[in-house]
Amino acid sequence: MQRKFPLLGRYLPVPVIHFLSRFFPPLYISHITGVRSIRGQKAEGWFVACPFTPNRMISLPVPVAYRKIVQTGRLAEKLGARILGLGAFTSVVGDAGIAISRQLNIPVTTGNSYTVAMAAQAVRAAAERMDINLAQAAVAVVGASGSLGSISGRLLARECGRIVLIGLPRNRARLLKIEAQIEADHGASTCVTDDITAIGEADIVIAVTSDVDTVIEPHHLRPGAVVLDVARPRDVSRRVAQERDDVLVIEGGMVAVPGPDLDFGFDFGFPPRMAYACMAEVMILALERRYTSFTLGRDITIGQVAEIEALGEKHGFKLGGFRSFERAVTEAEIERVKRAAHRHSGR
Ligand SMILES: NC(=O)c1ccc[n+]([C@@H]2O[C@H](COP(=O)([O-])OP(=O)(O)OC[C@H]3O[C@@H](n4cnc5c(N)ncnc54)[C@H](OP(=O)(O)O)[C@@H]3O)[C@@H](O)[C@H]2O)c1
Repeated sequence: MQRKFPLLGRYLPVPVIHFLSRFFPPLYISHITGVRSIRGQKAEGWFVACPFTPNRMISLPVPVAYRKIVQTGRLAEKLGARILGLGAFTSVVGDAGIAISRQLNIPVTTGNSYTVAMAAQAVRAAAERMDINLAQAAVAVVGASGSLGSISGRLLARECGRIVLIGLPRNRARLLKIEAQIEADHGASTCVTDDITAIGEADIVIAVTSDVDTVIEPHHLRPGAVVLDVARPRDVSRRVAQERDDVLVIEGGMVAVPGPDLDFGFDFGFPPRMAYACMAEVMILALERRYTSFTLGRDITIGQVAEIEALGEKHGFKLGGFRSFERAVTEAEIERVKRAAHRHSGR
Protein backbone atom coordinates (compact mmCIF):
# COMPACT_ATOMS: atom_id res chain seq x y z
CA MET A 1 0.00 0.00 0.00
CA GLN A 2 2.78 2.34 1.02
CA ARG A 3 4.78 1.60 -2.13
CA LYS A 4 1.90 2.26 -4.51
CA PHE A 5 0.22 5.08 -2.59
CA PRO A 6 2.95 6.56 -0.33
CA LEU A 7 0.72 9.14 1.35
CA LEU A 8 -2.20 6.84 2.08
CA GLY A 9 0.21 4.13 3.20
CA ARG A 10 1.93 6.50 5.60
CA TYR A 11 -1.08 8.17 7.18
CA LEU A 12 -3.84 5.57 7.24
CA PRO A 13 -3.82 3.34 10.32
CA VAL A 14 -3.29 -0.34 9.47
CA PRO A 15 -6.79 -1.49 10.56
CA VAL A 16 -8.27 1.13 8.20
CA ILE A 17 -6.11 -0.20 5.36
CA HIS A 18 -7.34 -3.74 6.08
CA PHE A 19 -10.92 -2.48 6.01
CA LEU A 20 -10.58 -0.34 2.87
CA SER A 21 -8.70 -3.01 0.92
CA ARG A 22 -12.03 -4.72 0.33
CA PHE A 23 -13.32 -1.79 -1.71
CA PHE A 24 -10.34 -1.17 -3.98
CA PRO A 25 -10.71 -2.48 -7.52
CA PRO A 26 -7.97 -4.60 -9.16
CA LEU A 27 -4.96 -2.41 -9.83
CA TYR A 28 -2.58 -2.06 -12.73
CA ILE A 29 0.86 -1.68 -11.14
CA SER A 30 3.46 -1.75 -13.92
CA HIS A 31 4.75 -3.10 -17.21
CA ILE A 32 7.62 -5.57 -16.80
CA THR A 33 10.10 -5.46 -19.66
CA GLY A 34 13.47 -6.94 -20.55
CA VAL A 35 13.14 -10.44 -19.07
CA ARG A 36 15.70 -12.18 -21.25
CA SER A 37 16.94 -15.75 -21.11
CA ILE A 38 20.65 -16.48 -21.40
CA ARG A 39 19.56 -18.44 -24.48
CA GLY A 40 18.10 -15.35 -26.10
CA GLN A 41 14.31 -15.71 -25.64
CA LYS A 42 12.53 -12.61 -24.30
CA ALA A 43 9.37 -12.07 -22.30
CA GLU A 44 7.37 -9.13 -21.02
CA GLY A 45 4.50 -8.95 -18.60
CA TRP A 46 2.52 -6.90 -16.11
CA PHE A 47 2.16 -6.57 -12.40
CA VAL A 48 -1.48 -6.46 -11.47
CA ALA A 49 -2.61 -6.33 -7.88
CA CYS A 50 -5.56 -7.85 -6.09
CA PRO A 51 -5.97 -5.28 -3.32
CA PHE A 52 -6.79 -7.37 -0.30
CA THR A 53 -4.39 -7.46 2.60
CA PRO A 54 -3.52 -11.01 3.76
CA ASN A 55 -5.63 -10.45 6.91
CA ARG A 56 -8.65 -9.58 4.75
CA MET A 57 -8.03 -12.43 2.35
CA ILE A 58 -7.98 -14.95 5.21
CA SER A 59 -10.95 -13.51 7.11
CA LEU A 60 -13.38 -12.88 4.24
CA PRO A 61 -15.50 -15.70 2.79
CA VAL A 62 -13.43 -17.58 0.17
CA PRO A 63 -15.83 -16.74 -2.73
CA VAL A 64 -15.34 -13.01 -2.04
CA ALA A 65 -11.55 -13.41 -2.29
CA TYR A 66 -11.91 -15.56 -5.43
CA ARG A 67 -14.12 -12.94 -7.10
CA LYS A 68 -11.53 -10.19 -6.78
CA ILE A 69 -8.61 -12.46 -7.77
CA VAL A 70 -10.56 -13.52 -10.89
CA GLN A 71 -11.31 -9.85 -11.71
CA THR A 72 -7.58 -9.18 -11.38
CA GLY A 73 -6.86 -12.14 -13.68
CA ARG A 74 -9.29 -10.70 -16.25
CA LEU A 75 -7.36 -7.43 -16.14
CA ALA A 76 -4.21 -9.44 -16.96
CA GLU A 77 -6.05 -11.13 -19.85
CA LYS A 78 -7.11 -7.75 -21.25
CA LEU A 79 -3.52 -6.49 -21.08
CA GLY A 80 -2.49 -9.43 -23.26
CA ALA A 81 -1.04 -11.87 -20.71
CA ARG A 82 -0.98 -15.49 -21.84
CA ILE A 83 -0.35 -16.94 -18.38
CA LEU A 84 -1.13 -15.69 -14.84
CA GLY A 85 1.11 -16.20 -11.80
CA LEU A 86 -0.51 -16.04 -8.38
CA GLY A 87 1.69 -14.28 -5.82
CA ALA A 88 1.67 -14.69 -2.04
CA PHE A 89 -1.84 -14.96 -0.54
CA THR A 90 -3.69 -15.15 -3.87
CA SER A 91 -2.38 -18.73 -4.03
CA VAL A 92 -2.96 -19.52 -0.35
CA VAL A 93 -6.67 -18.78 -0.28
CA GLY A 94 -9.13 -21.66 -0.92
CA ASP A 95 -7.87 -24.52 -3.09
CA ALA A 96 -4.56 -22.90 -4.17
CA GLY A 97 -5.54 -21.68 -7.63
CA ILE A 98 -7.74 -24.48 -8.98
CA ALA A 99 -11.10 -22.65 -8.73
CA ILE A 100 -9.51 -19.42 -9.98
CA SER A 101 -8.04 -21.10 -13.06
CA ARG A 102 -11.46 -22.54 -13.98
CA GLN A 103 -12.88 -19.03 -14.25
CA LEU A 104 -10.15 -17.59 -16.48
CA ASN A 105 -9.26 -18.11 -20.12
CA ILE A 106 -5.50 -18.19 -19.55
CA PRO A 107 -3.52 -20.81 -17.59
CA VAL A 108 -2.64 -20.08 -13.97
CA THR A 109 0.37 -21.11 -11.87
CA THR A 110 0.96 -20.55 -8.18
CA GLY A 111 4.76 -20.39 -8.36
CA ASN A 112 5.03 -22.85 -5.50
CA SER A 113 7.13 -25.45 -7.36
CA TYR A 114 9.91 -22.96 -8.04
CA THR A 115 9.58 -21.48 -4.54
CA VAL A 116 10.32 -24.94 -3.09
CA ALA A 117 13.26 -25.46 -5.46
CA MET A 118 14.77 -22.14 -4.40
CA ALA A 119 14.06 -22.78 -0.71
CA ALA A 120 15.94 -26.08 -0.93
CA GLN A 121 18.86 -24.35 -2.67
CA ALA A 122 18.90 -21.66 0.02
CA VAL A 123 18.92 -24.29 2.78
CA ARG A 124 21.91 -26.06 1.17
CA ALA A 125 23.82 -22.80 0.69
CA ALA A 126 23.10 -21.53 4.22
CA ALA A 127 24.03 -24.87 5.80
CA GLU A 128 27.36 -24.78 4.03
CA ARG A 129 28.08 -21.20 5.10
CA MET A 130 27.19 -22.00 8.71
CA ASP A 131 29.29 -25.22 8.74
CA ILE A 132 26.18 -27.38 9.25
CA ASN A 133 26.48 -30.88 7.84
CA LEU A 134 23.06 -31.25 6.20
CA ALA A 135 23.30 -35.03 6.07
CA GLN A 136 23.37 -35.12 9.88
CA ALA A 137 21.26 -32.04 10.58
CA ALA A 138 17.79 -31.87 12.13
CA VAL A 139 15.48 -29.83 9.87
CA ALA A 140 12.13 -28.52 11.14
CA VAL A 141 9.35 -27.44 8.77
CA VAL A 142 6.85 -25.10 10.43
CA GLY A 143 3.57 -25.22 8.51
CA ALA A 144 4.44 -28.68 7.16
CA SER A 145 0.78 -29.43 6.40
CA GLY A 146 0.63 -26.82 3.62
CA SER A 147 1.47 -26.74 -0.05
CA LEU A 148 5.07 -25.51 0.37
CA GLY A 149 5.56 -27.25 3.72
CA SER A 150 4.63 -30.77 2.66
CA ILE A 151 6.82 -30.88 -0.44
CA SER A 152 9.73 -29.08 1.29
CA GLY A 153 9.60 -31.72 4.03
CA ARG A 154 9.61 -34.55 1.51
CA LEU A 155 12.40 -33.02 -0.55
CA LEU A 156 14.72 -32.17 2.36
CA ALA A 157 14.09 -35.50 4.09
CA ARG A 158 16.19 -36.99 1.27
CA GLU A 159 19.17 -34.93 2.27
CA CYS A 160 19.05 -34.34 6.03
CA GLY A 161 19.52 -36.50 9.12
CA ARG A 162 16.14 -35.95 10.74
CA ILE A 163 12.99 -34.06 9.82
CA VAL A 164 10.49 -32.54 12.26
CA LEU A 165 7.06 -31.75 10.78
CA ILE A 166 5.28 -29.03 12.75
CA GLY A 167 1.66 -28.04 12.17
CA LEU A 168 -1.58 -27.11 13.86
CA PRO A 169 -3.47 -29.82 15.78
CA ARG A 170 -6.32 -29.65 13.22
CA ASN A 171 -3.89 -30.83 10.51
CA ARG A 172 -2.49 -33.83 12.37
CA ALA A 173 -3.96 -36.41 9.98
CA ARG A 174 -2.36 -34.66 7.00
CA LEU A 175 0.98 -34.42 8.80
CA LEU A 176 0.91 -38.14 9.61
CA LYS A 177 0.22 -38.86 5.92
CA ILE A 178 3.26 -36.80 4.90
CA GLU A 179 5.35 -38.58 7.53
CA ALA A 180 4.24 -41.95 6.11
CA GLN A 181 5.15 -40.78 2.58
CA ILE A 182 8.63 -39.74 3.74
CA GLU A 183 9.17 -43.04 5.52
CA ALA A 184 7.99 -44.99 2.46
CA ASP A 185 10.21 -42.86 0.16
CA HIS A 186 13.49 -43.40 1.97
CA GLY A 187 13.01 -44.21 5.63
CA ALA A 188 14.33 -40.89 7.00
CA SER A 189 13.87 -40.26 10.70
CA THR A 190 10.74 -38.09 11.13
CA CYS A 191 8.62 -36.67 13.89
CA VAL A 192 5.21 -34.95 13.82
CA THR A 193 4.19 -32.39 16.42
CA ASP A 194 1.99 -29.37 17.03
CA ASP A 195 4.48 -27.99 19.56
CA ILE A 196 6.42 -25.03 18.15
CA THR A 197 9.09 -25.41 20.86
CA ALA A 198 10.23 -28.52 18.97
CA ILE A 199 12.16 -26.17 16.67
CA GLY A 200 14.57 -25.79 19.58
CA GLU A 201 16.18 -29.07 18.52
CA ALA A 202 16.55 -28.08 14.85
CA ASP A 203 19.74 -26.95 13.13
CA ILE A 204 17.66 -25.61 10.23
CA VAL A 205 14.10 -24.29 10.36
CA ILE A 206 11.93 -23.64 7.30
CA ALA A 207 8.96 -21.41 8.05
CA VAL A 208 6.06 -21.72 5.61
CA THR A 209 2.83 -21.16 7.52
CA SER A 210 -0.08 -19.05 6.30
CA ASP A 211 -0.40 -17.42 9.73
CA VAL A 212 -0.78 -13.64 9.42
CA ASP A 213 0.99 -13.25 12.78
CA THR A 214 4.54 -14.29 13.65
CA VAL A 215 5.02 -17.78 15.07
CA ILE A 216 8.78 -17.99 15.71
CA GLU A 217 10.13 -15.99 18.66
CA PRO A 218 13.70 -15.50 19.98
CA HIS A 219 13.44 -18.07 22.78
CA HIS A 220 12.42 -20.88 20.40
CA LEU A 221 15.76 -21.23 18.63
CA ARG A 222 19.02 -22.95 19.46
CA PRO A 223 22.39 -21.19 19.02
CA GLY A 224 23.73 -21.53 15.49
CA ALA A 225 20.32 -22.30 13.93
CA VAL A 226 19.51 -21.21 10.39
CA VAL A 227 15.93 -20.05 9.83
CA LEU A 228 14.62 -19.74 6.28
CA ASP A 229 11.46 -17.63 6.38
CA VAL A 230 9.53 -18.21 3.17
CA ALA A 231 6.18 -17.05 4.54
CA ARG A 232 4.65 -13.69 3.58
CA PRO A 233 3.65 -12.12 5.93
CA ARG A 234 6.70 -13.32 7.84
CA ASP A 235 6.60 -16.18 10.32
CA VAL A 236 9.72 -15.00 12.16
CA SER A 237 9.38 -12.18 14.63
CA ARG A 238 11.64 -9.16 14.03
CA ARG A 239 12.71 -9.62 17.66
CA VAL A 240 14.71 -12.67 16.58
CA ALA A 241 17.03 -10.43 14.56
CA GLN A 242 17.20 -7.89 17.39
CA GLU A 243 17.75 -10.27 20.29
CA ARG A 244 19.56 -13.28 18.84
CA ASP A 245 22.97 -12.52 17.37
CA ASP A 246 23.68 -16.26 17.29
CA VAL A 247 21.07 -17.36 14.71
CA LEU A 248 20.92 -16.67 10.99
CA VAL A 249 17.49 -15.65 9.70
CA ILE A 250 17.21 -15.44 5.93
CA GLU A 251 14.29 -14.77 3.63
CA GLY A 252 13.35 -17.56 1.28
CA GLY A 253 12.49 -17.16 -2.33
CA MET A 254 14.67 -14.32 -3.66
CA VAL A 255 15.72 -15.03 -7.24
CA ALA A 256 18.00 -13.16 -9.67
CA VAL A 257 16.13 -12.71 -12.97
CA PRO A 258 18.17 -12.68 -16.22
CA GLY A 259 18.15 -9.77 -18.69
CA PRO A 260 20.56 -6.80 -18.95
CA ASP A 261 17.66 -4.38 -19.57
CA LEU A 262 15.28 -5.92 -17.07
CA ASP A 263 12.82 -3.42 -15.60
CA PHE A 264 9.98 -4.37 -13.23
CA GLY A 265 8.59 -0.83 -13.41
CA PHE A 266 7.82 -0.93 -9.69
CA ASP A 267 9.84 -1.12 -6.47
CA PHE A 268 8.35 -3.95 -4.45
CA GLY A 269 11.19 -3.81 -1.92
CA PHE A 270 13.84 -6.07 -3.43
CA PRO A 271 17.21 -4.99 -4.87
CA PRO A 272 17.24 -4.42 -8.65
CA ARG A 273 16.76 -7.53 -10.82
CA MET A 274 15.57 -9.65 -7.90
CA ALA A 275 12.10 -11.22 -7.73
CA TYR A 276 10.21 -13.59 -5.49
CA ALA A 277 10.48 -17.20 -6.63
CA CYS A 278 6.71 -17.36 -7.15
CA MET A 279 7.02 -14.44 -9.62
CA ALA A 280 10.02 -16.09 -11.28
CA GLU A 281 8.06 -19.29 -12.01
CA VAL A 282 5.64 -17.51 -14.34
CA MET A 283 8.54 -15.70 -16.04
CA ILE A 284 10.33 -19.02 -16.65
CA LEU A 285 7.17 -20.52 -18.14
CA ALA A 286 6.71 -17.45 -20.37
CA LEU A 287 10.31 -17.69 -21.65
CA GLU A 288 9.74 -21.36 -22.32
CA ARG A 289 6.44 -20.51 -24.14
CA ARG A 290 4.92 -23.11 -21.84
CA TYR A 291 1.42 -21.71 -21.43
CA THR A 292 0.08 -24.37 -19.04
CA SER A 293 -1.15 -24.35 -15.46
CA PHE A 294 2.15 -25.74 -14.18
CA THR A 295 1.48 -25.61 -10.42
CA LEU A 296 -2.10 -25.69 -9.13
CA GLY A 297 -3.54 -27.06 -5.89
CA ARG A 298 -1.68 -28.17 -2.76
CA ASP A 299 -0.16 -31.44 -3.94
CA ILE A 300 3.14 -30.69 -5.64
CA THR A 301 5.40 -33.50 -6.82
CA ILE A 302 9.16 -33.75 -6.54
CA GLY A 303 9.17 -34.13 -10.34
CA GLN A 304 7.48 -30.73 -10.79
CA VAL A 305 10.05 -29.08 -8.52
CA ALA A 306 12.95 -30.69 -10.40
CA GLU A 307 11.49 -29.74 -13.80
CA ILE A 308 10.94 -26.05 -13.08
CA GLU A 309 14.34 -25.85 -11.34
CA ALA A 310 16.01 -27.22 -14.49
CA LEU A 311 14.05 -24.80 -16.71
CA GLY A 312 15.04 -21.88 -14.48
CA GLU A 313 18.69 -22.88 -14.72
CA LYS A 314 18.42 -23.27 -18.49
CA HIS A 315 17.19 -19.67 -18.82
CA GLY A 316 19.71 -18.21 -16.35
CA PHE A 317 17.60 -17.73 -13.19
CA LYS A 318 19.63 -18.05 -9.98
CA LEU A 319 19.16 -17.98 -6.24
CA GLY A 320 19.57 -14.35 -5.08
CA GLY A 321 21.91 -13.48 -2.21
CA PHE A 322 20.79 -13.88 1.40
CA ARG A 323 18.55 -11.19 2.86
CA SER A 324 17.27 -10.72 6.36
CA PHE A 325 14.53 -8.24 7.30
CA GLU A 326 15.01 -6.13 4.14
CA ARG A 327 18.81 -6.09 4.32
CA ALA A 328 21.53 -8.02 2.51
CA VAL A 329 23.41 -10.46 4.76
CA THR A 330 27.18 -10.03 4.45
CA GLU A 331 29.89 -12.66 4.88
CA ALA A 332 31.13 -10.72 7.93
CA GLU A 333 27.69 -11.03 9.56
CA ILE A 334 27.62 -14.77 8.96
CA GLU A 335 31.04 -15.04 10.63
CA ARG A 336 29.73 -12.99 13.59
CA VAL A 337 26.70 -15.27 13.94
CA LYS A 338 28.98 -18.31 13.93
CA ARG A 339 31.22 -16.82 16.62
CA ALA A 340 28.24 -15.85 18.80
CA ALA A 341 26.73 -19.33 18.38
CA HIS A 342 30.03 -20.86 19.42
CA ARG A 343 30.14 -18.65 22.54
CA HIS A 344 26.53 -19.29 23.51
CA SER A 345 26.58 -23.04 23.01
CA GLY A 346 29.77 -23.26 25.06
CA ARG A 347 28.16 -21.51 28.07
N1 LIG B 1 8.54 -16.17 -0.75
C1 LIG B 1 7.85 -16.63 -1.81
O1 LIG B 1 8.27 -16.55 -2.96
C2 LIG B 1 6.52 -17.31 -1.54
C3 LIG B 1 5.89 -18.03 -2.57
C4 LIG B 1 4.69 -18.68 -2.29
C5 LIG B 1 4.13 -18.59 -1.01
N2 LIG B 1 4.74 -17.86 -0.05
C6 LIG B 1 4.20 -17.78 1.31
O2 LIG B 1 4.41 -19.06 1.95
C7 LIG B 1 3.38 -19.30 2.92
C8 LIG B 1 2.76 -20.68 2.72
O3 LIG B 1 2.17 -20.78 1.43
P1 LIG B 1 1.41 -22.13 1.00
O4 LIG B 1 1.02 -21.95 -0.42
O5 LIG B 1 2.20 -23.33 1.39
O6 LIG B 1 0.09 -22.04 1.94
P2 LIG B 1 -0.82 -23.22 2.49
O7 LIG B 1 -0.89 -24.34 1.49
O8 LIG B 1 -2.12 -22.62 2.92
O9 LIG B 1 -0.02 -23.77 3.75
C9 LIG B 1 0.12 -23.09 4.96
C10 LIG B 1 -0.06 -24.09 6.10
O10 LIG B 1 0.26 -23.47 7.32
C11 LIG B 1 -0.69 -23.90 8.29
N3 LIG B 1 -0.65 -22.98 9.42
C12 LIG B 1 -1.33 -21.80 9.59
N4 LIG B 1 -0.98 -21.24 10.76
C13 LIG B 1 -0.06 -22.05 11.33
C14 LIG B 1 0.70 -21.99 12.56
N5 LIG B 1 0.57 -20.98 13.43
N6 LIG B 1 1.55 -23.02 12.84
C15 LIG B 1 1.71 -24.04 11.98
N7 LIG B 1 1.02 -24.16 10.81
C16 LIG B 1 0.16 -23.17 10.49
C17 LIG B 1 -1.99 -23.93 7.52
O11 LIG B 1 -2.99 -24.69 8.17
P3 LIG B 1 -4.56 -24.37 7.85
O12 LIG B 1 -4.71 -24.49 6.35
O13 LIG B 1 -5.28 -25.40 8.63
O14 LIG B 1 -4.79 -22.96 8.32
C18 LIG B 1 -1.52 -24.60 6.22
O15 LIG B 1 -1.51 -26.00 6.32
C19 LIG B 1 2.42 -18.12 2.80
O16 LIG B 1 2.77 -17.17 3.77
C20 LIG B 1 2.71 -17.56 1.41
O17 LIG B 1 2.40 -16.19 1.30
C21 LIG B 1 5.93 -17.24 -0.29
